[in-house]
Amino acid sequence: LFAAVEMAPRDPILGLNEQFNADTNPAKVNLGVGVYYDDDGKLPLLKCVQAAEKQMVEAPKARGYLPIDGIAAYDKAVQGLVYGADSAILKAGRVATVQAVGGTGGLKVGADFLKRVNPAAKVLISDPSWENHRALFESAGFPVENYPYYDAAKRGVNFDGMLTALNGAAQGTIVVLHACCHNPTGYDITPAQWKQVVDVVKARGLVPFLDMAYQGFGEGIAEDGAVIQQFVDAGLDFFVSTSFSKSFSLYGERVGALSVACASKEEADRVLSQLKRVIRTNYSNPPTHGAQVVATVLTTPALRQMWEDELAGMRVRIKEMRVALQAKLQAAGVKQDMSFITQQKGMFSYSGLNKDQMQRLRDEFGIYGVDSGRICVAALNSKNIDAVVSAIAKVS
Ligand code: LMR
Repeated sequence: LFAAVEMAPRDPILGLNEQFNADTNPAKVNLGVGVYYDDDGKLPLLKCVQAAEKQMVEAPKARGYLPIDGIAAYDKAVQGLVYGADSAILKAGRVATVQAVGGTGGLKVGADFLKRVNPAAKVLISDPSWENHRALFESAGFPVENYPYYDAAKRGVNFDGMLTALNGAAQGTIVVLHACCHNPTGYDITPAQWKQVVDVVKARGLVPFLDMAYQGFGEGIAEDGAVIQQFVDAGLDFFVSTSFSKSFSLYGERVGALSVACASKEEADRVLSQLKRVIRTNYSNPPTHGAQVVATVLTTPALRQMWEDELAGMRVRIKEMRVALQAKLQAAGVKQDMSFITQQKGMFSYSGLNKDQMQRLRDEFGIYGVDSGRICVAALNSKNIDAVVSAIAKVS
């Protein structure tokens, strides 16, 4: 049966972790996967998470099956974060939200549902996009193509190219958009540009699917989610996947969600019933622990404040690392203009280094980034930054 099974290629991001873990270089630095580490290079266990877990341990509960769509209080809290707690669309009951197994799970549930309702559609993802977007939508059965996004010469977004591609897309095309903190480039479009995207999406009858894995890592929770209201105001049906991996530092708990904005409550009820069908036939129902932690934090005012402060702390530290990286690279004699580093948002910097340079960083210095040139600035700290700068300067 398995004689002809070929070896699958290593995952471009998670596969790097395997290589990193096997590397015996004591000075190794992992700037590959999108994970936030504190200034001591440690994965944080947030205080709000510890407090919620303490509450949960003190009032232990048996673990029955969750409803197929997850913990109701969790789904409601997700909706509040994504659309704003007092938003009219939530009051009207027009959003169907399900707990999902991480942000990836939210994307996949949405993709599988779309394959049922929009089977002939094509999917457009940004060029470049998160490495897993293409594979995920292809595995749901869609042909996947790119729309232009990164402009290497300009070091920014090729917005005209993006808009032209969207304008040329057939009705019903699914367009995957990064709500904030674009992965991998770190370049976001402006609110005015979002308005143009929304207008084209509406005029062409496209299906927007917003990946919001980094809410709170750009400018703030509300600021990073602001684009959602533009889609609501345009009266569009659209998808949003949410991840709490990064914002709660709960990577291994796989806490995410999918929300679908619909035209009416009655439509949202029907959509929800179909999302539940997708979940039931994939993994039956979601796990309890991580979502209960997030729900407890988001619905307990003191814990929620603690979370917002801790998230702000992560955001500020990343920005400080960007400033330091830019200044130190310049000081190390790197000639090109490095100001792009502080213009980019979120965990990632598209460094402009090519595949050979990224491989040299790995092989000669134990510094791991993605072959595309993406480095995770959220893994830089005051102790490893000088080694990273000196290695980048040597390969530049
Ligand atoms: C990343 O882009 O590094 C993260 O989203 C982790 C992942 O699953 O790829």
